[in-house]
Amino acid sequence: MTKTAPAPPNVPSAAAAQRVLVLDFGSQYAQLIARRVREQNVYCEIVRHDITAERLKELDPIGIILSGGPNSVYEPDAPQCDAKLFELGIPVLGICYGMQLVCQALGGKVDNTPSREYGRAECEVTDAGDLFANVAAQTQVWMSHGDQVAGIAEDFLPMARTSTCPYAAIKHRQLPIYGLQFHPEVTHTPEGATVLGNFLNSVCGANGTWKLGDFAEETIARIRQQVGDDRVICGLSGGVDSAVVAAILAEAIGEQLSCILVDNGLLRLDEERAVVEEFSDHFKTDLHVVKAEDRFLDVLDGVTDPQEKRRRIGHTFIECFASEAQKIEGAKYLAQGTLYPDVIESGAAPDGPADTIKLHHNVGGLPEELGFDLIEPLRDLFKDEVRRLGLQLGLPEEIVWRHPFPGPGLAVRCLGEVTKGRLDTLRAADAIVVGEIKAAGLYRATSQSFAVLLPIQSVGVMGDSRTYEDTIAVRSVNTDDFMTADWSHLPYELLARISTRIINEVQGVNRVVYDISSKPPATIEWE
Ligand code: XMP
Repeated sequence: MTKTAPAPPNVPSAAAAQRVLVLDFGSQYAQLIARRVREQNVYCEIVRHDITAERLKELDPIGIILSGGPNSVYEPDAPQCDAKLFELGIPVLGICYGMQLVCQALGGKVDNTPSREYGRAECEVTDAGDLFANVAAQTQVWMSHGDQVAGIAEDFLPMARTSTCPYAAIKHRQLPIYGLQFHPEVTHTPEGATVLGNFLNSVCGANGTWKLGDFAEETIARIRQQVGDDRVICGLSGGVDSAVVAAILAEAIGEQLSCILVDNGLLRLDEERAVVEEFSDHFKTDLHVVKAEDRFLDVLDGVTDPQEKRRRIGHTFIECFASEAQKIEGAKYLAQGTLYPDVIESGAAPDGPADTIKLHHNVGGLPEELGFDLIEPLRDLFKDEVRRLGLQLGLPEEIVWRHPFPGPGLAVRCLGEVTKGRLDTLRAADAIVVGEIKAAGLYRATSQSFAVLLPIQSVGVMGDSRTYEDTIAVRSVNTDDFMTADWSHLPYELLARISTRIINEVQGVNRVVYDISSKPPATIEWE
């Protein structure tokens, strides 16, 4: 059975003394709150909303943040917190729904008559101390709520208001308990970082000493101690997460690391060569490349259903990986690039929310039967932190800023049948899309850009002849978290260049279209 190795929690010792906990009431912003706290060099974790006061006491945070959430506190199944947490003496900041819970628990009045407010609002600060130190008297805030607090208990004081919200911010007279109706964590609240910083520094007494650099050093030391003389296997995909895991392990255990890259024939143009080159430039460890293109094409033969494609690719990947791994003598551990959002979204975190939205199952996820102990050095990090760590560990920008690529690879961008010929068409078009976006200096400004080969042909004219050929869709999105995304507003000239080049240079394509759908309701990938 694979089990997570009994390592101490991935919390650096400095942070172990000081951490902030975010109670997740189902807000789309809970992760963003945690990131904003970490950006102030304070370690922060997300926990279930119904964590008990006793458990909180054990975890001993310097502050507790109650996140927003989609519910009304009056709904019968509305998520609640253990009201005893307000008696612990630990500073509490309730945001939006979190503030309404504070009021409900401590005697205020929440109004659920229709008062929906969504968007920017001008906020007048009436109490310039505390949370609003160094914040302008008139400041812009971002509101996103149905209910709002309509009356506060004797023990509370108002701190700020908007034209429609009399209690945009409140504080308890004696206890370190605060509430904000607006969202300080989003960039649309320009002084939100100052407000959060005031809560962390002045109210919670944070020393702001948590650093990614310490994280790397301590993680490396811990892995060294944990692994001893054993061998560790790490799967490489060409993506940033597995590259950073490999970099940490190479630093920690050097020659005891073996990496496996499965070339499934579904990679982008020249990707296998690039990974091998980058890898050999940066690490002097044992690299195994499994050439499995034919095997993958065989199992995909005739398959057009997207879920079936994923299933077959997943199985074949595991088989290829496992048979290579078994050849590596003395391997005891398997390193994986699991990130913090994967952990909390799968509900696997201790005290993590149980049933939030499930992310894509990663095709790289390996089954328990392989019999290795898991090492997951990035379990406590967000994607942007992984990128920063990669740069600190000396990985080149090209790897660190590479756009994400799905585990099932080009198969889910090759709509309809997956054949070598169709994949080659797609690879050539994709290289033009990415190359032109890079040449226009827009690669970093977009989050994910690629080509999709559609399963339809259409009529065209080339020279004097009629053509009946394939269509390429260009997809480029901007997103922070890949859960929601907007299509990139690329310049027309750039789109024109991409279109002309694809039609001129990629044989068999006579039409290029640009995908202008946002997520939701569309997804980023087409399958
Ligand atoms: P969607 O298409 O759901 O994609 O909007 C969101 C992000 O997830 C990536 N993606 C995957 N990644 N295995 C992965 O490792 C998968 O099966 C998978 N499907 C989608 C997608 O590229 C985007 O970044």
